[in-house]
Amino acid sequence: MNQSCYAMIVTKLGGPEVMSYTSMEMPIPKKNEVLVEQTAIGVNFVDIYLRAGQSHAHNPEPPFITGVHAIGIVKFIGKDVTEVKVGDRVTYTNAGVGTYCSHVAVASDRLVLVPPHLSDERVAAGFVRVMTAQYLLKQMRPLMQGDKVLIHAAAGGTGQVLVQWAKRMGLEVFATAGSDEKVNFVKTLGADHVINYKTQNFVSEIAKITNGKGIKVVFESVGKDTFMGSLECLEPKGLAINFGTASGQVENFALQTLHSKSLWICRPTLRTYIADKRDLQSMAKETFEILGDSTFRLDIEATLPLKEAVKAHSMIESRSTKGAVVLIP
Ligand SMILES: NC(=O)c1ccc[n+]([C@@H]2O[C@H](COP(=O)([O-])OP(=O)(O)OC[C@H]3O[C@@H](n4cnc5c(N)ncnc54)[C@H](OP(=O)(O)O)[C@@H]3O)[C@@H](O)[C@H]2O)c1
Repeated sequence: MNQSCYAMIVTKLGGPEVMSYTSMEMPIPKKNEVLVEQTAIGVNFVDIYLRAGQSHAHNPEPPFITGVHAIGIVKFIGKDVTEVKVGDRVTYTNAGVGTYCSHVAVASDRLVLVPPHLSDERVAAGFVRVMTAQYLLKQMRPLMQGDKVLIHAAAGGTGQVLVQWAKRMGLEVFATAGSDEKVNFVKTLGADHVINYKTQNFVSEIAKITNGKGIKVVFESVGKDTFMGSLECLEPKGLAINFGTASGQVENFALQTLHSKSLWICRPTLRTYIADKRDLQSMAKETFEILGDSTFRLDIEATLPLKEAVKAHSMIESRSTKGAVVLIP
């Protein structure tokens, strides 16, 4: 094994430049852990919240390693480990370890074996996003063919997965994106109505298209800039799922706002949905089926060396990406 071991360390909370490429001690796995030599790292928006200190109660204090997802090869197993063996290719997310590094010691019950036909890059780009789309579309509210849903930031990594999966479920998809180029891209994914929410008022556009009837569920990942408008787009008893805060957190929200249309809101996280090992494995199985379908698009905007993580974050925060960014240690 190559014994050199390195990481992008968040030296203090702040912009992308607070991350610094540093060598580190090889992690030593405990008896229930394995040592993973990482081959690809998925960049997800939560990595930015953590680096900037916007991740609520569980934000670590610097110095720490950001990132929640990676793929790699098992190099060593602790004495109590039964789930995997040396040489297995595995992936993991939300396992309580930072992932912007070459090696990690990770609890074996958080690992999922990666099917051999899937490339590291595709799993890095899609695993967290498809897992997220799985619980959002399948576990939150029963959705039937023809139901209307709204997906914000639909050209992004998670947005493009949601749009395609929602269309496969026969839903009528309303989508937003932040430029005309992104709008055109989202149309190619099959969305029925795509709105540039930088140049158009998405609330009045949706009211116009639905004759004021509104939509059943909003998949709301933008937060501060769109959340109140999203509530206006809902039909009576509609559901707003705030699963991300790319523009900032929703603050000073008055519960009474929900009263007149009997609206529902929730604020879920993938971490809860995969906390149980059986749920993790069954959602991963469905996720790999999606990832194994070559007709399911998962665009990778850039594959960069780990030491260029600063550039990766800058690209995402400047809203110039369509699809995913992947880091290679
Ligand atoms: N709760 C969960 O379980 C869970 C799991 C995974 C992801 N998420 C959330 O899902 C969302 C998408 O994650 P992702 O990793 O796939 O990222 P992404 O969608 O590739 O990037 C975020 C997108 O948000 C939009 N955006 C709107 N306002 C923004 C702002 N002020 N700054 C930056 N971007 C802004 C941009 O698209 P436009 O330019 O088109 O507006 C941008 O491309 C994030 O909010 C993330 O937190 C949640």
